[in-house]
Amino acid sequence: MAKSLLLLNGPNLNLLGTRQPEIYGHETLADIEKACVEHGKRVGIDITCKQSNSEGQLVTWFHEARGKVDGVIINAGAYTHTSVAIMDAISSTEMPVAEVHLSNIHQREEFRHLSYISKVAIGMICGFGSYGYHMAIDAFADRLKSKE
Ligand code: DQA
Repeated sequence: MAKSLLLLNGPNLNLLGTRQPEIYGHETLADIEKACVEHGKRVGIDITCKQSNSEGQLVTWFHEARGKVDGVIINAGAYTHTSVAIMDAISSTEMPVAEVHLSNIHQREEFRHLSYISKVAIGMICGFGSYGYHMAIDAFADRLKSKE
């Protein structure tokens, strides 16, 4: 059966390309999503990409994905540092999750050092720019292969 992942991006990530490019790079979210879908094809995983600025929408997408995909890659943007609701959605749905951040959140302001997502994710990748999403796809490819 084809493997599938959901790639979720949270608030303000729709502005990538023009948003603080010195921190987040020059690629748009559409560029990143296209490259992820292509990388997914290379490793035999179908990737569906979604972005929302709303916390509730991200929670709902976890509920809807339950039992339908093999895992979720999420860059929850600023909700990373505040959202007990997204953390609970991950625990409640028991979805395997890889957390990604473009920037190294530990080198930035103190308030970005805490991640509620990390408390329930399999692992977290940060600081490698958009390549971090590819690392997360590869991590799932490896994990899914060893589960076959
Ligand atoms: C981010 C880091 C967050 O602290 C920030 O709020 C973002 C982007 C990143 O990808 O580096 O929106 O998740």
